Amino acid sequence: MTLLVTGGAGFIGANFVLDWLAASDETVINLDKLTYAGNPETLASLQGDARHQLVQGDIGDAALVSRLLAEHRPRAVINFAAESHVDRSIHGPGEFIETNIVGTFRLLEAVRGYWADLPEADKTAFRFLHVSTDEVYGSLAKDDPAFAETHRYEPNSPYSASKAASDHLVRAWHHTYGLPVLTTNCSNNYGPYHFPEKLIPLMIVNALAGKPLPVYGDGMQVRDWLYVKDHCSAIRTVLAGGRLGETYNVGGWNEKPNIEIVQTVCKLLDELRPKAGGSYASQITYVTDRPGHDRRYAIDARKLEAELGWKPAETFETGIRKTVEWYLANPDWVAHVQSGAYREWVQKQYSAS
Ligand code: NAD
Ligand code: TYD
Repeated sequence: MTLLVTGGAGFIGANFVLDWLAASDETVINLDKLTYAGNPETLASLQGDARHQLVQGDIGDAALVSRLLAEHRPRAVINFAAESHVDRSIHGPGEFIETNIVGTFRLLEAVRGYWADLPEADKTAFRFLHVSTDEVYGSLAKDDPAFAETHRYEPNSPYSASKAASDHLVRAWHHTYGLPVLTTNCSNNYGPYHFPEKLIPLMIVNALAGKPLPVYGDGMQVRDWLYVKDHCSAIRTVLAGGRLGETYNVGGWNEKPNIEIVQTVCKLLDELRPKAGGSYASQITYVTDRPGHDRRYAIDARKLEAELGWKPAETFETGIRKTVEWYLANPDWVAHVQSGAYREWVQKQYSAS
């Protein structure tokens, strides 16, 4: 048995592949374009492992995808591949449209062609699992109930709009062509191998480097944080038992304002890597807010729990400690991803603040 995973050299995809192969002998074909966010070093422990094959390529390359499907005959495709950073989508939305919308469309078409010709039993068992985000639902006011699967789509950033479009395509390929799809909409993830342009790893890396910790606006925007390995376990659960054509919201019941996240990271660093002259919190710097910044996300994950029995294993307290410890233990991984391209991004995003 084989899985085709796309975007499996990125943050969540790579965690998924590593966790999958730690528990299963099912082969993973990993199709990843290796953009700035894709990092084969994350998968270094799988070198020489016959159960894993990393293929550099684009989900929008229909010929390549069709060839991989014909050659490896996967029983499922799990689509992590995406442009994923809201701030980058504000500076340059084109790539988001290309990969998240056009790429997903081409991938769906290639998969549909493959699936249509499968023998009946394989056709019935086949799954296309699309990994998406809670950001498609837009922004909540302070006392609004958390996003349920029935919440209307109200995306506000080029990133979330492109993911919303991809979700609609996946839904339509099920309703129109019968493709056996599943969609997960997850809250903000954190954990090992997170590219240090996202809030939590950026704060850890900047704190240790003695740099400012840039908090957008008043720092009171709320996100609902989930440890990445809990997201991976939710995906495995939905893949195994999700009802066809359904969407499942995934979240950790951990709503926190950004400033509290940054203060928690500082406290953990104060404990684990104390610096002379006081707390890392003195590096916190308020900077100009992100345009169109969503105020609050919160996920209602009761459907996934009630139907499939999934629950996160980590609380925020245990997950964030593991995350900070991981970054302290892996300075080489961090140093290698902070390449020229990373430095250019930091210069572009934070120079005016
Ligand atoms: P990431 O940016 O770390 O990784 C994305 C991966 O996709 C990279 O390895 C990149 O090289 C690859 N990729 C980009 N364009 C590609 C293309 N055209 N063809 C093939 N590969 C391509 O993102 P992530 O944080 O790991 O997110 C993975 C998925 O989960 C995304 O679809 C994202 O929308 C979704 N998601 C992320 C979060 C989060 O908090 N990070 C939360 C919910 C959902
Ligand atoms: P991010 O990690 O980019 O995820 P998303 O925008 O997809 O939720 O940002 C998480 C929150 O942290 C978001 O409200 C923006 C904020 N943020 C900062 O305050 N400073 C920063 O330098 C970054 C990258 C994010």
